[in-house]
Amino acid sequence: MKKILITGGAGFIGSHLVRLFVNKYPDYQIVNLDKLTYAGNLNNLRDVENASNYEFVKGDIVDAKFIYELFDKYQFDGVVHLAAESHVDRSITNPNEFIMTNIVGTANLLNAANRIWADNQDGKRFYHVSTDEVYGSLGETGFFLEDTPYDPKSPYSASKASSDHLVRAYHNTYKLPVIISNCSNNYGSYQFPEKLIPLFIHNIKNNKPLPVYGKGENIRDWLWVEDHARAIDVIFHGGKDGDTYNIGGHNEWTNIDLIKLMCKIVDQKLGRSEGESEKLITYVKDRAGHDMRYAIDSTKLQNELGWTPSLQFAEGLEKTVEWYLENTDWLENVTSGDYQKYYEEQYQKR
Ligand code: NAD
Ligand code: TYD
Repeated sequence: MKKILITGGAGFIGSHLVRLFVNKYPDYQIVNLDKLTYAGNLNNLRDVENASNYEFVKGDIVDAKFIYELFDKYQFDGVVHLAAESHVDRSITNPNEFIMTNIVGTANLLNAANRIWADNQDGKRFYHVSTDEVYGSLGETGFFLEDTPYDPKSPYSASKASSDHLVRAYHNTYKLPVIISNCSNNYGSYQFPEKLIPLFIHNIKNNKPLPVYGKGENIRDWLWVEDHARAIDVIFHGGKDGDTYNIGGHNEWTNIDLIKLMCKIVDQKLGRSEGESEKLITYVKDRAGHDMRYAIDSTKLQNELGWTPSLQFAEGLEKTVEWYLENTDWLENVTSGDYQKYYEEQYQKR
């Protein structure tokens, strides 16, 4: 039986990956390590929490002693590392948490894996989940490729870039069997409603202003979260040691076009008149250092490992809207407590 550590498994992407691995690999023991920050939520995993091949451990990857002891106890065969501080706006107001979790936390995991695998690296794998934001910002043309030079622009992307460099350095120096993927923006169920898509669905439903940064002309490349989880599965099992794989949807949208589409879908679902919710669109002060455009070229992943996105965006976005409209308990739960304070602080100054 293989023992696989998934870090950050109570978060958005992590919970989809835990679900996929627990259901698809009954002969793996999946250990989900998560600190349960504001973004981590065990309600994301209710359907698998009693599975015999699943275990949850609460803990902080910044705590080196705890991480060493965990690796000693379980002797993991593989690690899929997703735990991170992940929201760009929060990294602008509080960069230190990003530096600690994303850089120091990743270093602690690398050190622990390096120690327990020192004598035998056969069949072992340290998979680091990263973002396309490490490549910086594109102009009107071009795509991010695996060898695009790093040029991170926000504290979030700089902390992820640092962690990517550490992962590669451990491969080069200690021959640690690592693999990295850099993915574009994800959307789907269980995403914390601070990110664009769930936040705006929530606000449209509640007739609250839709705070569009700048002119709404920034472009993101959106991928269905379950397609990201499938890509991680394919790369974890078939990718080459030391390699990097870009994951993306070839699905670029300006924020404003995407926001108008979300208004249209929610209006249809709630029986509102066409265009009604577009009145909520409110242009606010731009994000500091706002990256203009992200777009991923995932040809390598498609050619080498046969992965392609499974879902068209129109279908995926509609499913996503339906999920947030239906799962009101989940939304109420995550938007109680500190969420209101965050929301007021984040948007009152804009
Ligand atoms: P998320 O914020 O929803 O979840 C992060 C999880 O990590 C949470 O469960 C949180 O509790 C946990 N965590 C945070 N700090 C921790 C710590 N110190 N110790 C242990 N656990 C901790 O993030 P997400 O959107 O699911 O992103 C997951 C990973 O994928 C991140 O590494 C992120 O950089 C990367 N990524 C995200 C996207 C995206 O669009 N969301 C795109 C590409 C890559
Ligand atoms: P976000 O979901 O935070 O992802 P990222 O910054 O990692 O790409 O934001 C997606 C885009 O939406 C980005 O260009 C910023 C913009 N945005 C807004 O215009 N208003 C908002 O309230 C938020 C959260 C994001």
